[in-house]
Amino acid sequence: MQFYRHGLSSADAKGIAEVLDTPFLTSGGVGKKVEAQLCEFFGQTHALLVNSWTNGALAAILAMDIGPGDEVIVPAQTFIATANMVELVGAKPVFVDVDPETLLMTPELTAKAVTKNTKLVIPVHMYGQMCDMKGLRAALPKSVRILEDCAHCFEGTRDGEPPGKHSDLAIYSFYATKNVTCGEGGAIVTSDEDLFGKLQQTRLHGMSAIAADRFKSGQYRHWDMARLGVKANLPDLLAALLPNQIATIRERLPARTALSDRYRDAFANLPIRLAKLDKGSVSAEHLFPIHVKPAQRDAAIAALNEAGVPVTVNYRSVPTLTYYREKYGFTPASFPVSYEWGEGEITLPLWPGMPDADIEQVIATVKDKVVKLVR
Ligand SMILES: Cc1ncc(COP(=O)(O)O)c(C=O)c1O
Repeated sequence: MQFYRHGLSSADAKGIAEVLDTPFLTSGGVGKKVEAQLCEFFGQTHALLVNSWTNGALAAILAMDIGPGDEVIVPAQTFIATANMVELVGAKPVFVDVDPETLLMTPELTAKAVTKNTKLVIPVHMYGQMCDMKGLRAALPKSVRILEDCAHCFEGTRDGEPPGKHSDLAIYSFYATKNVTCGEGGAIVTSDEDLFGKLQQTRLHGMSAIAADRFKSGQYRHWDMARLGVKANLPDLLAALLPNQIATIRERLPARTALSDRYRDAFANLPIRLAKLDKGSVSAEHLFPIHVKPAQRDAAIAALNEAGVPVTVNYRSVPTLTYYREKYGFTPASFPVSYEWGEGEITLPLWPGMPDADIEQVIATVKDKVVKLVR
C-alpha cells in the first residue's frame, strides 16, 4: 500500500519536452503563463513561482524587511519551515497554541500574543482547512501584516473565499506530496503592488532584473542589487507540470472529500479524535489525521505498519523540538494543546485513486488493531 501517489504520469513529460526545445530552461515564458493562471484562480493581481514554500517565505520575509528585534507570530502546530524562516532572518518566532478541535490558529489567541514588536502573523491552514482569516484580520492591528501558509490548502475555501482575501500574501507549496505538485516548488500570490515589486527582487538574490528579462531587448542591460535576496525562482522545466493540475484541481477535490468522509464516517464512534471541520469550510483535504492517546501512539503506528498500512506524523509540536526547546526553554506545558495533539497524531494514507481494497484495509486496521490498543 502507498501512503501517497501523485496524479502525474509520463504523459505530463510533453510539457517538459517543449521547454527542452527552448533556449532557456529556468524561469521564463512557461512560468509567466502559470503565474497568470494562478492570479486568475485566486482572483489576485500578482503571482510569483518559487522553488519551495520555504524559500518563498524567506523571500517574502526579506521583502517585508523583517529581521532582528521583530516578532512574527506562528502557530505551535505546524511544519517547522513556518517558524524556521523567521529564525533564519534573526527575528523571533512567537508561538501561539491552537484550537483543540480544529488544530488551527485562532484570532483570540493570536491577538493576545501581539506586542509593539509584532510585524507579521503566519496562519497555517492545517490539513487543508483554512483558518478564520476574516476574524484574524479584524483581531489584529492594521500595522501587522499577514502571510498565509497555504502549503496544505490550494483549493480550500472558507465562507466561499479562497486564501488571500484578508491577508497581504499567500504562499503555496508544490512539494512532492501536495495536492498540486511538481516535486519541489511553490508560489507567492499577492495583490500588494509595492510588496510584489520587492518580491521580484528578493526571489532572485535581490537583483533588479531576472535573467530572461536582462537579455530580452537583444542588448545586455546592467543589473543592480538594492536589497538582500535568496535564490528562490522555479525553473520552467518544473513549472511545465503545473498548468493542467491547476486547471483540474477543483474537479479533483470531490475524490479527496469522498475518501476523507469515508474515514470520518468509519471512525465517528471510536475512541480516537478527528480534526473538526468548521461550518462554512471547504477543506482541501490534504491530509487525514487521527489522534490517539499519546502513550499508545507509537504502538498504534507499529500495529498499522505491521498490517501493511504506511503512516506519517504531522506534526510533533514545533516549540518542544530540540532546537526551539533548548533556545527558548519551552516545555510541554507551554503550548499544551499542540503538544498533546503532536504526541498522539497519526496521518493515514489519502490520495485520489487510492484502491478501494487499501481504503478498507486502513479502516479495518484502525477499527481492529488501533482501537484495541487505545481503549
Ligand atoms: C504547513 C507547511 N508549511 C510549509 C511547508 C514547506 O513547504 P516546502 O517543502 O514547499 O518548502 C510544508 C511542507 O510540508 C508544510 O506542511
